[in-house]
Amino acid sequence: MRNRVVKQDGSSSAADEAQRSARVQKKEAAPSRWWLKRGLLALFVIFIVAPFSLRKLPELIQHLVYVHRIRLPFFVDLSHPADLSLNHTINMYLTSEEDISLGVWLTVPESQWKEAQGKDLAWYQNSLSDGSPVFIYLHGNTGTRAATHRVGVTKVLSRLGYHVLAPDYRGFGDSTGEPTEAGLTTDALYLYNWVKARSGNSLVVIWGHSLGTGVATNTAVKLLEQGLVFDGVMLEGTFNSARQTISGHPFTWYYWKFPGLGYFLPEPWAENKVVFPTEENLKKMRSPILFLHSEDDHLVPIRFAQQLYEVAASAQNAERVKLATFDGSLGYLHNGLYRDPHLPDIIKTFVQSL
Ligand SMILES: *[C@@H]1O[C@H](CO)[C@@H](O)[C@H](O)[C@H]1NC(C)=O
Repeated sequence: MRNRVVKQDGSSSAADEAQRSARVQKKEAAPSRWWLKRGLLALFVIFIVAPFSLRKLPELIQHLVYVHRIRLPFFVDLSHPADLSLNHTINMYLTSEEDISLGVWLTVPESQWKEAQGKDLAWYQNSLSDGSPVFIYLHGNTGTRAATHRVGVTKVLSRLGYHVLAPDYRGFGDSTGEPTEAGLTTDALYLYNWVKARSGNSLVVIWGHSLGTGVATNTAVKLLEQGLVFDGVMLEGTFNSARQTISGHPFTWYYWKFPGLGYFLPEPWAENKVVFPTEENLKKMRSPILFLHSEDDHLVPIRFAQQLYEVAASAQNAERVKLATFDGSLGYLHNGLYRDPHLPDIIKTFVQSL
């Protein structure tokens, strides 16, 4: 072996020499080409990608936060809630602002399901003043009012003898417009006033889930500016604010999928006015509040609910603020606590305390 190597080395021909020098030249050329590629890439990023992203960022953020364009579940006709066995529900459209039409389901107490067959909108609206409590359910991001867990909440409430209004905010489902934090709050406030104008002396309770808890507390603060308070507020799977540390925030599923995104997103968020300052809102609110949270919530860890419960309880009469948690072994995660057999009693006790 050794000999052969030596022999090869010893017998280098002119051709070998040429080849070797070509190889050397190639090696010398490589770095400059490497720099050229890097340079071009940098120019591409600086002059094309970055300006494009910055221009598109608000839109991108809007989609990441609200995920409103995905009409989950697919193939559901939102104008036919009966398809989801909500046979005592009417679909309607309300104009919360010029050019903004909101798709809303109005469900009467389940005990009235027979009477409700074939009834028109006027009948449904009149029933709101029959003395039964009225719930406004503000859903979380992604999908429509037809999502299973949302329909599940409506069924629980309706079975308890309450009315339920379940809107799709602007930009969601068959509602028109584009979602913004201010826009969602305007939609919720409009719906609340619409209900109050028809519900007589009935209790009106707001139930927010996930992103909807941010909308609910924003709306509560808007209402306070008019000297009004919600009769009761339920906050399920609530989070602190859009500026909260990145891990464990309901908006941040994409941080796991696209690591590095967090590097440039936090600041534009503020510019894009996605704030949802729930903690600050809770310090001002004076409504009785019931927090609901699953211990195994994978999107918003339960410590957020505990922390916000403390904030709300120390901001007002602690007796009026409650936290109901659900054992992690039940597997409810972020959306599933509507399935809990104890939930109806928890809600009833809260409503009776109002
Ligand atoms: C209508 O809904 C009620 C309550 O969910 C249910 O008990 C009833 O069987 C349904 N009726 C029909 C005809 O689907």
